[in-house]
Amino acid sequence: MNGEHYPFQSTPDERQRLVRQAELVAPLTEQLFEKAGITSGWRVLDIGSGSGDVALLVARLVGPTGTVIGIDRDPDQINFAKQRAMEHGVSNVQFMSEDFRNIELRSPVDAIVGRLVLMYTAEPLEALRSVLRNLKPGGVIALQESVVDYDGPPCIEPRDCLAAKAVQWFRAGFKYSGVQPRMGMRLFGLMREAGLNPSTDIVTLAPILQGPEGPLFKLITAVVASQLPAILSSGIATEAEIDIDTLEQRMIEDAPPCGVVGYFNSGHVGVWAKNP
Ligand SMILES: C[S@@+](CC[C@H](N)C(=O)[O-])C[C@H]1O[C@@H](n2cnc3c(N)ncnc32)[C@H](O)[C@@H]1O
Repeated sequence: MNGEHYPFQSTPDERQRLVRQAELVAPLTEQLFEKAGITSGWRVLDIGSGSGDVALLVARLVGPTGTVIGIDRDPDQINFAKQRAMEHGVSNVQFMSEDFRNIELRSPVDAIVGRLVLMYTAEPLEALRSVLRNLKPGGVIALQESVVDYDGPPCIEPRDCLAAKAVQWFRAGFKYSGVQPRMGMRLFGLMREAGLNPSTDIVTLAPILQGPEGPLFKLITAVVASQLPAILSSGIATEAEIDIDTLEQRMIEDAPPCGVVGYFNSGHVGVWAKNP
């Protein structure tokens, strides 16, 4: 497929998958935002806000005197994020449905944040440049992206288990959808190309998980389920081979006695920069 296509389906299960993924990667996000100096009273724009977890985290950092604007082009994600903010009693966050590349706020913000969003744009440099219109001079941008690659064997042990095959399936779905590979590794250079001076204090997280006792198989199954149409379109496997309803149980039965250890997806990288 040419161009840009978001590989995940917009379903209640997908929204819950994002919440579970957020719990896994939040320590890096929090560390990144603290290093970037996001603090009390700031006005912050969160691009690709999904289920709202990044915006809710920032809302805590900026406190009641600060505000957060979450942007997502999926209106169902926006409604879900609004509902979660209400349930958490958070009132300093607003969510808007829009492509973040089209956003022109009436006044610029103190910080722009985003997690796992540039990787879904066909032209990440253009996307970054367009959103930077909304950043104050001297403001900060802090982005976190995955280092997922689409070629080569996945980092999983043992290499020939069913879980490794399932990771290959969703990597094919990513590739088919035009998702940017190794976006986390490219963030630093991208920020420089956009005229920023990113900090060399790059933060990283390698969530290596275990199955069946740990959450590895559950997370892999959720990614494959949400990406099923993209995976099938890529031609890497048939619906019968994947058999999503039995996939998790088959991974459990296939696992050796010591289990399986691996990246469920990939590592994460966080980079921040100050606007000149
Ligand atoms: C993988 S999710 C990450 C959600 C959230 N940032 C997190 O880390 O929990 C990516 C989100 O970005 C949204 N998205 C992707 N491209 C976008 C764009 N160009 N403009 C606005 N939202 C976008 C998708 O709809 C999805 O909700």
